[in-house]
Amino acid sequence: MTELKNDRFLRALLRQPVDMTPVWMMRQAGRYLPEYRATREKAGNFMALCMNPELACEVTLQPLDRFPLDAAILFSDILTVPDAMGLGLYFSEGEGPRFERPVRDKAAIAALGVPDPEQELRYVMDAVRTIRHELDGRVPLIGFSGSPWTLATYMVEGGSTKTFSRSKGMMFDDPASMHLLLEKLADAVTAYLNAQVAAGAQALMIFDTWGGTLTPKDYRAFSLAYMQRIVDGLTREADGRRVPVILFTKGGGQWLEWMADTGCDALGLDWTTDIGEARARVGGRVALQGNLDPCTLYASPEAIERAVAEILASYGEGTGHVFNLGHGIHPAIPPEHAAAMIQAVHEKSRQYHST
Ligand code: CP3
Repeated sequence: MTELKNDRFLRALLRQPVDMTPVWMMRQAGRYLPEYRATREKAGNFMALCMNPELACEVTLQPLDRFPLDAAILFSDILTVPDAMGLGLYFSEGEGPRFERPVRDKAAIAALGVPDPEQELRYVMDAVRTIRHELDGRVPLIGFSGSPWTLATYMVEGGSTKTFSRSKGMMFDDPASMHLLLEKLADAVTAYLNAQVAAGAQALMIFDTWGGTLTPKDYRAFSLAYMQRIVDGLTREADGRRVPVILFTKGGGQWLEWMADTGCDALGLDWTTDIGEARARVGGRVALQGNLDPCTLYASPEAIERAVAEILASYGEGTGHVFNLGHGIHPAIPPEHAAAMIQAVHEKSRQYHST
């Protein structure tokens, strides 16, 4: 395997010394980039883009060709796993993801199989292999998955939701069925992430976008417990290097200690938590990734630079910080504003690293 030319991101995740704070952006390949929109047009639609390894590779590399980012993230979606379980994923313009066959009762859940990643999700593994090859060691490649709870909300609702009426309805009315679904998803996600590592992913991130909608007790029982099972089952080394695992529960700022207890390497933070306080709580055990409010990027480059400086100062001296947004970049952000953020992170962080 090719030597990594820039391993700042992996080093920071393992709390090893770095020369400056590494940075990448959630949804860095996406609609805010005109070149992304052009490639999606060429593919036909979003899912066709995900299913074409060459084009998925092309859009993965687009933000890296524009900005000096320290990591690449596989271009795909968290909902490929439920799709492979037979739910029939499609994206309707302006409405987000939808499933043709949502799962709403015990019989439907019992009938679900755990997909073989090299069969039903082969196109994702082919994308990982293609991207790793094309990256040629420029930066590490992040593989990812949704958390079981987050995937379950989409599978039960049949798409995005604001109310969680059906998914939380099942959790409260028929917890045994919800647990059965979450168990199957934990198995599917573990196999999927391990296959991504085998195909070339060098770090892993679990997106628990909807864990923060739960009560503390339900978070532990219905989201964290299944992320714990996944962490316990993951391949943690490849090519003689540790494969760091990042857990991101949006809205999970009050549960950082519990999340760190899973044995993951790093926690993703949204913008509602002060990163300096988070470091005081768990920084001795895990690295932290985050946490600029994505809306900051609507502001002027000067305002963006000030906000970056505040986060770097709040985290303070030394390693263990990967700079990111607190959630995905919005489609209307001018790419030059993303550039200003990335440049500010690199320039203003050197003073905190004395290697
Ligand atoms: O970060 C990256 O650049 C990698 C690619 C990535 C996508 N989705 C591409 C995408 C990743 C890591 C995801 C994760 C994902 N997908 C999550 C978890 C992270 C989060 O945002 O909380 C969730 C909940 C999904 C499900 C999903 N996919 C939704 C709700 C939507 C529609 C929302 C929207 O912004 O329209 C998607 C579509 C999607 N996934 C797009 C992209 C670039 C936009 C689709 C398009 O090009 O039209």
